[in-house]
Amino acid sequence: MKLRSATKLGINITLVMLLVGFGFGINASYQHYQGTGLSRLPQRPLPASKQPATSIGISKPLAYVSLTSPETRESSATREHESRSNPSSHRVIDDLKLYPSVQKGMRTPFDLWNYYGRGKTSFSSPVLPMRFEQWLDFHKKQKPHLMGDVRSYMQSRFDFSGEAISGQMMSGGRKPIMEGPVARLPDDISSFEALAVLSPEEIRRRDLFPYKPLAHPIQTNAHMLFPESWLIVHPEHRRIDVDFDIPDEYLPEFPPPLFLTTHKELGDVTGGREVTLDNFFEIFDGLITPEQMEGLKELLRPSPTTWFNHTSHRLTESPSQGVSCLDCHVNGHTNGAIELAPDARPNMARLRVDTPTMRGNYNLMQLSSKRSVRSMDHFSEIEEYFDGDPGMQQAIGPRAVKREVTNRMGDFNAIIDYPPAPKLNALGRLIKSRATESELRGEALFFGKAHCAQCHSGPAFVDDYMHDLKVERFYVGRPEGPIKTFPLRGIKDSPPYLHDGRCPTLHDTVEFFNLVLELNLTKQEKEDLVAYMLAL
Ligand code: HEC
Ligand code: HEC
Repeated sequence: MKLRSATKLGINITLVMLLVGFGFGINASYQHYQGTGLSRLPQRPLPASKQPATSIGISKPLAYVSLTSPETRESSATREHESRSNPSSHRVIDDLKLYPSVQKGMRTPFDLWNYYGRGKTSFSSPVLPMRFEQWLDFHKKQKPHLMGDVRSYMQSRFDFSGEAISGQMMSGGRKPIMEGPVARLPDDISSFEALAVLSPEEIRRRDLFPYKPLAHPIQTNAHMLFPESWLIVHPEHRRIDVDFDIPDEYLPEFPPPLFLTTHKELGDVTGGREVTLDNFFEIFDGLITPEQMEGLKELLRPSPTTWFNHTSHRLTESPSQGVSCLDCHVNGHTNGAIELAPDARPNMARLRVDTPTMRGNYNLMQLSSKRSVRSMDHFSEIEEYFDGDPGMQQAIGPRAVKREVTNRMGDFNAIIDYPPAPKLNALGRLIKSRATESELRGEALFFGKAHCAQCHSGPAFVDDYMHDLKVERFYVGRPEGPIKTFPLRGIKDSPPYLHDGRCPTLHDTVEFFNLVLELNLTKQEKEDLVAYMLAL
């Protein structure tokens, strides 16, 4: 009897303690996550030039801390002295701000190109900073505010209310191609032509450049972010923290057609369907080799990733089976899903990358915008799925794909063709009788005055080099360094453009290169270049 009530009392006390602890826990963690001011590193006073500017999208002021190593910390007095005595010693970082100190789930500035710094460590952890229920609750509260700010930020940069180009469709024939340019010009600049006559220095000084990089809308969680057209069919990939930031009109058609190098006579082999684990055999049996079939199956098989998995370290409400290669490279093309390039640290320095097509990979020697990976098989290995952090694998579930398997994935990758280009001859030049005047003028510009062919040459209109376009000449920002040239064959099917999608339309890419290469093209010449690219 005595013993029993003692046990009862014990249970009661434990229950009360648990409840108190539970409530307290939520509050404490949520408080901790309310602001971004709490730092893991000691704060130091900042020189005036490093005081945080109010940046769009961050409603609360952030506290900035030093993430730099001692060697790179110098007094601003020394720097000023240096740059006064020798103007050429001016370094880019003098104009940059230090990354805010933030943890998983916390918001990051949308203008991350403006920042620099060194992370506390290169290694990440598969553990959430709070319990999953709290994490879910935290994101439920943060997401509406974040998305409101993401939408107004994107609206401030782009006018997404444009029209389609009349008579132009993507290769599947179902989706119109949008007219541009849609990047917004600053108020005091009347036209893109008026902007292009200014020098890079002036554009930088007056902060006029319309094609600054894009960051991931929440760079602390980052990882794969799928567009709405995909989420309607695959709601299991909807994230608790953030939604996609570019409207579907400006993304590739879904599902896109799939052309095989080995069966050109068939055209699109999918019959307008998304190839899935359920239907791939029926679609491809009798058309591809057993090796390719096995490779395709692996490309379709979902695997756990850093944030899409069964553990609580995830960004979906329910446990997720993960993601497959063709969830982003849908039908061997792309749905425009974004990720961060896994090539640098801290995570805030990683560039946003949108999914490139797999079409025509058989002709590329250079894969991935920053890393210059030389083999398609490499892409079938694990690192993308774990943000380039192999340490994350053990807790989340390794993708132990063996070399034979990744080679087979490469085998299927190697037969995905570009869409037909009926206006091109065997040399990849326009067939005069089939081309319009505007397309022909565009081709002449492409190979002549506009210098495009210097980097976009050969059968896929790509030189397979990485180029440093030095875009930071036009804005205050961290240099992005060399980026691989992307092929222009079939380019009309792959908006948005550039590695991070900062050019939503082909018109925007022409305006981008008109500025970056200082070409001073006329409005008509720019139209002609677009007309030409639509024929490739
Ligand atoms: C988040 C969606 C996503 C998933 C899932 C994904 N990729 Fe990618 N893929 C990308 C992005 C984004 C890039 C660009 C990376 C870069 O530029 O550094 C890329 C690049 C590539 C490239 C190089 C293309 C080029 O033109 O440089 C290949 C090949 C590739 N992926 C194959 C695969 C394979 C194989 C898998 C499955 C193991 C896979 N991808 C899974 C998004 C994805
Ligand atoms: C110095 C080399 C170079 C020249 C010259 C050049 N490009 Fe590019 N092009 C690149 C690189 C590098 C990229 C990728 C840049 C990035 O993603 O940040 C690119 C990307 C593109 C893209 C986007 C491809 C995609 O898949 O997103 C288009 C379109 C394009 N270029 C068109 C042109 C046109 C039109 C011209 C001529 C007016 C031109 N380029 C001149 C190197 C060049």
